[in-house]
Amino acid sequence: MEWRDDLETGISVVDEQHKELFRQADILLDRNNAARVNDTLKFLEDYVVKHFGTEELMQNTTKYPRRDEHKKMHDDFIVTFGNLKQEFLNSGSDMLFIIKMTKIVVDWLNTHIGIHDKDFGVFFKTCWQLGQEERDA
Ligand SMILES: [Fe+2]
Repeated sequence: MEWRDDLETGISVVDEQHKELFRQADILLDRNNAARVNDTLKFLEDYVVKHFGTEELMQNTTKYPRRDEHKKMHDDFIVTFGNLKQEFLNSGSDMLFIIKMTKIVVDWLNTHIGIHDKDFGVFFKTCWQLGQEERDA
């Protein structure tokens, strides 16, 4: 799975974090090895929480109008991800688990980034430009 430029939000710190998530999801696809899956799951779990924190802080600071529904999507994803991790801890990983897990992560990244994070990117850019005009005035 590869990063696509059309997923860019235009916010460099957010885009860099998204690219790292794609890299890790790609690694996950390649790893049908329990120890490695465990490492990658752990990384993704920590990284997703950190990444959501970055976006939520920016959205709160700019008073993004859809910040509550955006945070709800993040929270729901954390629950879904937590359930998957529990499934892995209970039953381990086989190819079916890897496929299921990767599909959930990839679908979520594509949909959430491609629609909702990009929407915030447009809003953020407008905020920044308005602030710049005020600073220039
Ligand atoms: Fe987001």
